[in-house]
Amino acid sequence: MQFLNLHYVKRYRMEFDMRRWQSSAIDLPVDYRLVAWDRSLISAHAEAKYQSFRGEIDAEIFPCLGEYSGCLNLMTEIQARDGFVPESTWLAEYVGAGASKHEYCGTIQAVRTQRGKASIQNIGVAPLHRGRGIGSALILAALLGFDYTAIPRICLEVTADNEGAVRLYRRLGFRTVRTLYKAVELAASASAR
Ligand SMILES: CC(C)(COP(=O)(O)OP(=O)(O)OC[C@H]1O[C@@H](n2cnc3c(N)ncnc32)[C@H](O)[C@@H]1OP(=O)(O)O)[C@@H](O)C(=O)NCCC(=O)NCCS
Repeated sequence: MQFLNLHYVKRYRMEFDMRRWQSSAIDLPVDYRLVAWDRSLISAHAEAKYQSFRGEIDAEIFPCLGEYSGCLNLMTEIQARDGFVPESTWLAEYVGAGASKHEYCGTIQAVRTQRGKASIQNIGVAPLHRGRGIGSALILAALLGFDYTAIPRICLEVTADNEGAVRLYRRLGFRTVRTLYKAVELAASASAR
């Protein structure tokens, strides 16, 4: 007989009401720029996603985030969805190391889930580039896209223990609307801890 080694991870569903949004300038540090969606950037988004999530709490919950191939499959699948919102999908690029050494260091995507509602997917910033406002800038750029496409309600899910991410969303005006428990099968090594 085979037993599943499940445990439950607490997650928050958070929402943002675009009707209360006031557009503000996106404050990016010098040496960084935001790159709008283009289909040729699938692998760049996948690389930024992989660099951002590997070794992080969400890669334990969603193992595909901890592998480049998983991130590439996920990006390919997201951009092919009917509800994909290119206007709210952005890459952050570090250009401070010279023109030939640019580095994609952050990513955000969005998908329309139902009429009047969209969901932010997998925002991530690579560790060396955190704490400089890149995550905030990616979210603000996504909100501009939602404003442009007239989508009034934005949602996301975040692991409750991911305190930095929860703080970021709250600071930008997201509010928790529900607490969820996601069943996760522990890997043998993780379950031994
Ligand atoms: C969550 C995540 C996207 C945040 O990205 P980030 O680029 O570090 O975000 P920001 O820099 O905008 O904000 C982070 C902190 O830096 C601070 N900050 C922003 N600009 C700053 C600056 N110029 N100087 C100093 N601090 C600054 C912010 O106030 C914030 O502080 P706080 O944590 O006390 O609220 C990033 O940590 C990450 O990728 N984590 C792993 C993947 C993940 O879990 N994603 C979320 C999935 S739901």
